[in-house]
Amino acid sequence: MKVVAKLCIFLFTTSYLVLISGLQVHSMPYDYSATTECVKEPKRAQYEGGIIVNPEFDQNIKGWTVFGNGTIQERTSNDGNRFIVAINRTQPLDSFSQKVQLKKGIIYTFSAWFQLSEGSDIVSVVFKINGSELVRGGHVIAKQGCWSLLKGGIVANFSSSAEILFESENPTVELWADSVSLQPFTIKQWRSHQDKSIERVRKSKVRFQVTHLNETALEGATVVIKQTKPNFPFGCAMNKYILTNYEYQKWFVARFKYTTFTNEMKWYSTEQIQGQENYTIADAMLKFAKENGISVRGHTIFWDCTNLQPGWVKFLSPNELREAAAKRMNSVVSRYNGQLIAWDVVNENLHCHFYEDKFGENISAKYYSTAYHLDPKTTMFMNEYNTIEYSGDHFASPANYIRKLKEIRKFPGTAGMPMGIGVQGHFAWGVPNLAYMRSGLDLLGATGLPIWLTETSVKAQPNQAQYLEEILREAFSHPAVQGIIMFVGPAQAGFRGTVLADAKFQNTPSGDVVDKLINEWGTGPKIAIADSKGIVDISLHHGDYDVTVTHPLTQYSKKLNVSVRKGFSPDTIHVKMHA
Ligand SMILES: *[C@@H]1O[C@H](CO)[C@@H](O)[C@H](O)[C@H]1NC(C)=O
Ligand SMILES: *[C@@H]1O[C@H](CO)[C@@H](O)[C@H](O)[C@H]1NC(C)=O
Ligand SMILES: *[C@@H]1O[C@H](CO)[C@@H](O)[C@H](O)[C@H]1NC(C)=O
Ligand SMILES: *[C@@H]1O[C@H](CO)[C@@H](O)[C@H](O)[C@H]1NC(C)=O
Ligand SMILES: *[C@@H]1O[C@H](CO)[C@@H](O)[C@H](O)[C@H]1NC(C)=O
Ligand SMILES: *[C@@H]1O[C@H](CO)[C@@H](O)[C@H](O)[C@H]1NC(C)=O
Ligand SMILES: *[C@@H]1O[C@H](CO)[C@@H](O)[C@H](O)[C@H]1NC(C)=O
Ligand SMILES: *[C@@H]1O[C@H](CO)[C@@H](O)[C@H](O)[C@H]1NC(C)=O
Repeated sequence: MKVVAKLCIFLFTTSYLVLISGLQVHSMPYDYSATTECVKEPKRAQYEGGIIVNPEFDQNIKGWTVFGNGTIQERTSNDGNRFIVAINRTQPLDSFSQKVQLKKGIIYTFSAWFQLSEGSDIVSVVFKINGSELVRGGHVIAKQGCWSLLKGGIVANFSSSAEILFESENPTVELWADSVSLQPFTIKQWRSHQDKSIERVRKSKVRFQVTHLNETALEGATVVIKQTKPNFPFGCAMNKYILTNYEYQKWFVARFKYTTFTNEMKWYSTEQIQGQENYTIADAMLKFAKENGISVRGHTIFWDCTNLQPGWVKFLSPNELREAAAKRMNSVVSRYNGQLIAWDVVNENLHCHFYEDKFGENISAKYYSTAYHLDPKTTMFMNEYNTIEYSGDHFASPANYIRKLKEIRKFPGTAGMPMGIGVQGHFAWGVPNLAYMRSGLDLLGATGLPIWLTETSVKAQPNQAQYLEEILREAFSHPAVQGIIMFVGPAQAGFRGTVLADAKFQNTPSGDVVDKLINEWGTGPKIAIADSKGIVDISLHHGDYDVTVTHPLTQYSKKLNVSVRKGFSPDTIHVKMHA
């Protein structure tokens, strides 16, 4: 039970608007109240606990049973907040549990607050499905002395009973929990959240008022609105075949203004033989991109995995490696300084730690600082897989991601560095866990930094196109996401996982999804007829538009350019028509 007196003071001392937005938080699916801070008292359960019985523990431990060994009991904080604890644990899974029924196709959002009696450890929520299979649904780094928010979820791929329980590796500590919530959503509800959010964060309402020169309304004018450049970066990877394959060029240029080179800027590509740098291909690709108005993310200065270094690196002594790495950094960042929109600096430094093993725990942070000083205006990204796509992987969980991010940001020399959150978004087999994805984006978004999906793809499978669409819509609708690059392409360019066009450049079902979304999110022309007051009201995706207004009776015609952005103003565009 939360401290009601405090809540009242909060409400009385703040404006009515806060009350309104408080209500919106409840009905809106995107959790703007998500926090990565460890706080003195937990917030109330999201969705009032959803289908969880006794989510705030104001009815003692009703609805909860002990899982495994140990004992569970209710406890009360000095401020009067009641919560549950598991004591005398002997196994990681020893905790408290509650049974729920999961329904096939339903998306379940989970959240809860945790604290440990000592130290700090990863706590995971585990769904024990159908009496046996354990599915992890989210992770948090819980600590002693304050409460940390775990957010996650599960998408049920069949109907069954499930037991919700919790895991913490160190069984000698007490596990405390409060404000537990599991909220079901149908696919339809989920989609409607996405559409509402897209309306709010990606679009603005625009009014055209068509009149004669003397400002009398002109009824029946046709307004044709054609997007020339979308504001939201929705791009696609590119590889060296772009230099030689004309069909690939045509295919790419017709669709995308943002890209990442799959391999061509990597160290193993630009310095295959030690000391013989060769940027011929990367340079030519950058030239092609520039000629076609395509912005490029730099990928990647270093890669933190042992087996993805240039082959010769493994023969170097630590000092030789330090020198070679310094040269690499200086070479690639100086070469492309100011020409890229992002750098992936130390790729996959949550799963891998090649450089940390050689040079200490702060080496990633040091490389970020060096890159920043060589190219101070370009946003420096972390870039990791499984952070939003796989709830079973705690190494790259949003909580761990944020821990590393904070380390880098507080390292001397990175103050003021523009930083971005890169989540690759390589989705594997099976139904994508959109609840986990949204929870992860909420948590990462709480840092205030821009999030990009940097390498979105979906493993080949019967529902690939459908899953790709769900994932892209989820990303596009999330307010914290500021760009999406897919690691996909046509078969002729060697793409095998998510192929958008077959060997004859005919769209695959996934290619149809991408084209549909490009069209829906902007480039498809919109046509409207002015009403009797000469007015056209329309909601437009942020972007640049060519607008043509014609009036069939008078044969008046006028062209104008409109840039629609967040907070678009003025929201009425007067179009005065004359012969
Ligand atoms: C309970 O603890 C004992 C001794 O540590 C262990 O052998 C047993 O597997 C535990 N039971 C469960 C359900 O974890
Ligand atoms: C926890 O374990 C200790 C010692 O092993 C025991 O004295 C105590 O009674 C146990 N507490 C509960 C609530 O079972
Ligand atoms: C759930 O468990 C029951 C009994 O063990 C089994 O018959 C059934 O096939 C299981 N369902 C699924 C979807 O695995
Ligand atoms: C359901 O998902 C779980 C975990 O995500 C997976 O292990 C299992 O194979 C899936 N089952 C079906 C029937 O798709
Ligand atoms: C405004 O101009 C139009 C076209 O010239 C004319 O038909 C209309 O009567 C004018 N309205 C007024 C109020 O002068
Ligand atoms: C550099 O790479 C290009 C493209 O692969 C190749 O044609 C060229 O011979 C290379 N240059 C040297 C000096 O190896
Ligand atoms: C890493 O950097 C932090 C400060 O950001 C510092 O406290 C810590 O001691 C450093 N670790 C090592 C091994 O130098
Ligand atoms: C609109 O912008 C385009 C460039 O995108 C330019 O060529 C054109 O002249 C502009 N039209 C008007 C009416 O300003």
